[in-house]
Amino acid sequence: MSKRIVSDLELKGKRVLIRVDFNVPMKEGKITDDTRVRAALPTIEYVLNHGGKAIVFSHLGRVKSEEDLAKNDLAPVAKHLEELLGKKVTFINATRGKELEDAVSKLQDGEILMFQNTRYEDLDGKKESKNDPELGAYWASLGDVFVNDAFGTAHRAHASNVGIASNVKESAAGFLLEKEIKYIGGAVDNPVHPYVAILGGAKVSDKIGVISELINKADKILIGGGMMFTFLKALGNNIGKSLCEDDKLDLAKELLEKAAGKIVLPVDAVCAKEFADVPGVVKSVSDLAEDDMGLDIGPKTLELFADALKDAKTVVWNGPMGVFEMKNYEAGTIGVCQAIAHLTGANTIVGGGDSVAAVEKLGYADKFSHVSTGGGASLEYLEGKTLPGIACISEK
Ligand code: 3PG
Repeated sequence: MSKRIVSDLELKGKRVLIRVDFNVPMKEGKITDDTRVRAALPTIEYVLNHGGKAIVFSHLGRVKSEEDLAKNDLAPVAKHLEELLGKKVTFINATRGKELEDAVSKLQDGEILMFQNTRYEDLDGKKESKNDPELGAYWASLGDVFVNDAFGTAHRAHASNVGIASNVKESAAGFLLEKEIKYIGGAVDNPVHPYVAILGGAKVSDKIGVISELINKADKILIGGGMMFTFLKALGNNIGKSLCEDDKLDLAKELLEKAAGKIVLPVDAVCAKEFADVPGVVKSVSDLAEDDMGLDIGPKTLELFADALKDAKTVVWNGPMGVFEMKNYEAGTIGVCQAIAHLTGANTIVGGGDSVAAVEKLGYADKFSHVSTGGGASLEYLEGKTLPGIACISEK
């Protein structure tokens, strides 16, 4: 990789600013999925074991009003990090000021502190999210070197990533960011063919950029999930009450034409009369009634998709095939997991909040070469966009 990584830095005795993405789902102050915290441990542990003084920080949620402060408090995440590390994590309930500065100056080699949600600064003129120059320079002044390990935030140009990087002498990628660049960047820049992309989820509008890019790069694009119905309707099928973005029908047609046969659409769907976890009926996509609602891809589609996947050497998947949260509509997503699990010698990547939640819930996460911690970031990366959080890191 052309970017400097944390192991390229001299860390002993240095104050090491580590930007992580601890934007984790929380319910009543408890973390419901700690994947992102665990994913940052190798970098944090490396810094501590090499005598660095670790100053860790992240955003959590979006802070628009005073009421958003309490529910986006990072203290419970710092506590969890402490448990995972088995080491005291001093939490500073501030994003700037004397308490934070004193705590930084007291840090000994191999010790760690974490400060409050960087987006608390958004209450005052969106300083974090607008990359306020004074804020980036201030945070940079707290450290000697900067390590960015927040891949999930790499599509944002905020004070806590780009702002700091432009004010420190040395910056580097953490091991998580390095891994994301290796796998997703590899699929973007140098995919081994056959390259098959699988896209799902509710909306076509979220995936327009990525489909346009993949048409040029992938050999096949398999489309499932709610978004399949916009394409099926564009081809003249009756889709009943299924999800559809009527304002994207022309665009769907254009994409199908441009793809010249690369896009593979479902031939059958599992349909219900209501959005509920009750057994559905498999129907050909040309046979849906006015009151049918397609909630998963059907078995014939699964065969078609498995066949398209069988020789793949690069697979990128974003978006579930159906309503996998419901037992009656999880089969399509499970089937795709299984088809990918059977591949040998393929580079298989899953990204995006819902599809990652699906492979984890269904027990297939370890069957992938890489499970990305990025939602929007992984999608923008696959779109071929330059991610500011990566671009800002020093070259080797
Ligand atoms: C994410 O979860 O996608 C990242 O943490 C970025 O969060 P944001 O969409 O609130 O900027």
